[in-house]
Amino acid sequence: MMLYDQVEEAVKAVRRFSALVPQVALILGSGLGELAETVEAGVTIPYAQLPHWPSATVAGHVGRLILGQLEGVALVAMQGRLHLYEGYTPQEVTLPVRVMARLGAQVLMVTNAAGALNPAYQPGDFMLIRDHINLPGLAGWHPLRGPNDERFGVRFPALTAAYDEELRALVQKVAGEIPSMHLHEGVYVMVSGPSYETPAELRFLRQIGGDAVGMSTVPEVIVARHMGLRVLGLSLITNSATGTGGQTVDHGEVLATAAAASSRFVLLMRGVLRELAQLLKGQKRIQ
Ligand code: HPA
Repeated sequence: MMLYDQVEEAVKAVRRFSALVPQVALILGSGLGELAETVEAGVTIPYAQLPHWPSATVAGHVGRLILGQLEGVALVAMQGRLHLYEGYTPQEVTLPVRVMARLGAQVLMVTNAAGALNPAYQPGDFMLIRDHINLPGLAGWHPLRGPNDERFGVRFPALTAAYDEELRALVQKVAGEIPSMHLHEGVYVMVSGPSYETPAELRFLRQIGGDAVGMSTVPEVIVARHMGLRVLGLSLITNSATGTGGQTVDHGEVLATAAAASSRFVLLMRGVLRELAQLLKGQKRIQ
């Protein structure tokens, strides 16, 4: 079956649960799923109830789709995301983004936990993604590889302004009003994982221009841009990953730092949604 038809089937399945037309699609990264608990008038759909939808297999990722309202914004949220290292292809990992776009979302807000390549970043800080380096994609492991379906987007999409400038300014404004919030802006490098990087790999990733490293986000962003959505990407820095201090990372540490930062993350996201509600008011399709 063609990807397009799979997406349409999944959209139909969601529509059996909810008629809500979301303005925003939200993907919640490792340990950041708490925000989804606060969605109002929400309908919750386990991924297993949706055709063609891969299931989330990692600790810290619940695996359900939530539709509802938050801060006056109609949204669809993925509580639990999918990764390449789980064995899914980039096309499978990004099917949910296509479905959320077809449901009506005009903006993708995507979050993740990431290691700091930039020595100035501390665990618990946030990084607004200004740009990315798609390491798996540059090497051929790319969500748009294969025949292009023009119903989704063009063959050769530009990614020069992938991370929307107006939305970044909005996040900076909201962050400035939250006490003890450290928000950086930088370049996210995607690796496929699941092993954490060697010190030599981390030095390499820093040298090629990365500020933070993680195992997600980039495929979803590319597919969102392919379909004309505006994108806002936010990393929570969970650990140092400079390759210089001899530190070892583990998933427990990543989840613990995410849990400790959760209340600030929720404040930031709710503030951003409140501003977005104003921005999107009266606007139909942005692009
Ligand atoms: N490396 C890769 N992915 C990550 C890291 C890291 O140090 N921390 C959280 N996700």
